[in-house]
Amino acid sequence: MANFLKTIAAIVVGYGIAHNYLIAATAQTSSSSHLDAMKSMYRREPPPPIANQALVDLGRDLFFDPALSASGKTACVTCHLPQLGWAVTDAKSRNDSGKLTSRRSQPLIGMGRIGTTPVGWDGRNPTLEAQAKSSIARPARCR
Ligand code: HEC
Repeated sequence: MANFLKTIAAIVVGYGIAHNYLIAATAQTSSSSHLDAMKSMYRREPPPPIANQALVDLGRDLFFDPALSASGKTACVTCHLPQLGWAVTDAKSRNDSGKLTSRRSQPLIGMGRIGTTPVGWDGRNPTLEAQAKSSIARPARCR
């Protein structure tokens, strides 16, 4: 009797495992084919037209120029690293004076398309231009 019960229990457990495996396998197959379908539909938007190439070049130079900071050592790129989506991995950024700021640098991907959306974690700056100016002037960044 005990052996019979053990066999039944093994069959029930085995069935449960096989059942869960099949559900997981089905879910994986459908989500990866769903992902493949989404990837095939994705089209990167063309870059926005450049109105003034000289201004773009100046912006790039300034972004990498530590002369913008009080110490002459901190540039925008110090806290917005290209290889990290123009952000950092640290939980909080360190300002030009070496103090930890209260926040993490945000990624800057897609900033060129932000339009009239407020900028910053809490939208504290109404425009990208205002954010750039405050990044230079505020003690939390380049001071
Ligand atoms: C000391 C580190 C530090 C430096 C230097 C710095 N930033 Fe930032 N940046 C941050 C942090 C932290 C935030 C998040 C701001 C917030 O919401 O409080 C941020 C946010 C931004 C944003 C908003 C992104 C978004 O998704 O809304 C822009 C744009 C930006 N920075 C541009 C710049 C530019 C341009 C410079 C150079 C002039 C610069 N940053 C220099 C740390 C830095």
